[in-house]
Amino acid sequence: MSEQVVVTREAGVCEVRLNRPDKRNAITVAMYQALGEALQGAQTDGTVRAVLLSGEGASFCAGNDLHDFLNAPAIGADHPVLTFLSRLVSCEKPLIAAVHGQTVGIGVTMLLHCDLVLAARGAQLSMPFVALRLVPEARSSLLLPRLIGQQRAAQLLLLGRPLDAAAAQTLGLVTELVEENELLQSARERARELTQQPLGALSATRRLLRGDPAPLQARILEEARIFSAQLQSEEFRAGIRAFLARGRQHPSA
Ligand code: COA
Repeated sequence: MSEQVVVTREAGVCEVRLNRPDKRNAITVAMYQALGEALQGAQTDGTVRAVLLSGEGASFCAGNDLHDFLNAPAIGADHPVLTFLSRLVSCEKPLIAAVHGQTVGIGVTMLLHCDLVLAARGAQLSMPFVALRLVPEARSSLLLPRLIGQQRAAQLLLLGRPLDAAAAQTLGLVTELVEENELLQSARERARELTQQPLGALSATRRLLRGDPAPLQARILEEARIFSAQLQSEEFRAGIRAFLARGRQHPSA
């Protein structure tokens, strides 16, 4: 079996590629573990000046693996998803994301921790947490209202409607729109530009832009507590079982 998270480090850029295209790069517990390790490796490697996140196949990321939600619903403090998120927050190297296709759930909320987000024109972003009987995670309940305003965040999170790439750019979730066949090349070009910058000032500027991580860390634990309780509710489990049984139709449909 090929690796589901492929990590390469070259010319100052750590590329982290989700590689589970047959499942639209839905992230499993093992993949969170690998993602956390990749970020840790990028952080401690003095030659790395930028991290580039991307996905293989038709979608950047279809969110958390729904089978894992059913099979391992508890999210304790040492769960790999929380380690991954904590490393996203504490990463001192700039993060770039290259997004395409149907991008769902944590595939979207992780973008709030990225400094540059390039999206293919056809990309669609959605956060159907409420329809799934879940709540926002990855600190999105704090970061999204801060980025786009309280009411617009409520509209996206309460109604869970998909956002096309152009609308996401207008809202400030995406920094650059590109043609899909140029996405990776453009993202690599931005990464290369970052490697030309002095590392000390680069890291300090990311830190200043992100501000104090303490309130973010506290919020993620609160989100995880509620998320975990929802995962164990019968209404959630019934909805997901129906989705998996139908194979295609989303429980929010
Ligand atoms: N977890 C587990 N498997 C998933 C998945 C997920 N989050 N998202 C997609 N898959 C699987 C599908 O079950 C399907 O597997 P199969 O071929 O063995 O039946 C395969 O990936 C392809 O999915 P499909 O729905 O055919 O692709 P699509 O391009 O038509 O649609 C999505 C893509 C992302 C819109 C759709 O798969 C979807 O809605 N997925 C669920 C997203 C979600 O709710 N994530 C959790 C958010 S908290």
